[in-house]
Amino acid sequence: MPKPIRKAILPVAGLGTRFLPATKAVPKEMLPVVDRPVVQHVVDEALAAGIEHIVFVTGRNKAVIEDHFDRQFELERTLQERGKQKLLEELGDDTPKPGTTSFTRQQLPLGLGHAVWCARDIIADEPFALLLPDMLHFDNGSQGCLSSMVEAYEETGGNVVSVYEVPDDQTNQYGIVGVEDRPGKARPITQMVEKPARGTAPSNLAISGRYILQPSIFDLLEKQDPGAGGEIQLTDAMLRLNERERFFAVTFEGSVYDCGSKIGFLMANVAYALSRPDIEPEFRTELRKLFSLGAVEAD
Ligand code: UTP
Repeated sequence: MPKPIRKAILPVAGLGTRFLPATKAVPKEMLPVVDRPVVQHVVDEALAAGIEHIVFVTGRNKAVIEDHFDRQFELERTLQERGKQKLLEELGDDTPKPGTTSFTRQQLPLGLGHAVWCARDIIADEPFALLLPDMLHFDNGSQGCLSSMVEAYEETGGNVVSVYEVPDDQTNQYGIVGVEDRPGKARPITQMVEKPARGTAPSNLAISGRYILQPSIFDLLEKQDPGAGGEIQLTDAMLRLNERERFFAVTFEGSVYDCGSKIGFLMANVAYALSRPDIEPEFRTELRKLFSLGAVEAD
């Protein structure tokens, strides 16, 4: 049985330039998908997979994320006084238990690989999960992406990466993996290529922003030279780790929304709203009205 996955890293120190000006003062991770910040959806996924401790790698202007995962006494008292018991309980359920979160600063946004490396002392010598908090994995209440990866990891050990199918003509925009052609939930990875030139991709399986990694990645990240965009790239360190450790791909069957992009964020809101019984009927009626008024061109 491989070592259990108890801790998860959520890197939230990026600048969010694709979402300016909204992200000038508000971190993109705090933008709401329906009524929960994007990062809360990702924390929900981590906790559902059995994660016991979450390490947030933060940066300047991100203090509000730390506040979001803390208790708000004034708010709690006001809700209590107004008899809003249900809301109070929901807020309590969403607040992590004391001592189950850590916050460390990346100080300078030197790339995802560097952000992960900043969590090395807190993770120590354990395999860990890494969840990119702007990538939402929506499977409409099924198992959850990380849960399904943990289940696979319990059989395979090693390193596990979640992948999803993207259109063949868009593989040049993603990190793409090649896998052994064999049945099974976790397929051994044979190749990893960051944004392959058109026509050279080994498959249409893109890395979706969920990883289970061995702590040996930290030594490689420490020595990693800056790669694409002058940033310390996680993929470069994974490629080197792949020379000596096994990597497996687990295909996520739901929808992946990149909430760091405008379209991904808008589509996530529509998908999550339509999955909420308390919102869906009215929202669907309003969407229909919007289309029938011709305010939006429907195909
Ligand atoms: P992205 O490249 O999507 O985030 O990184 P970004 O840099 O904030 O976005 P744009 O391109 O400027 O719009 C993926 C994840 O890695 C984190 C980001 O916060 C995001 O969750 N990240 C990225 C860091 O924590 N530190 C970095 O130096 C870079």
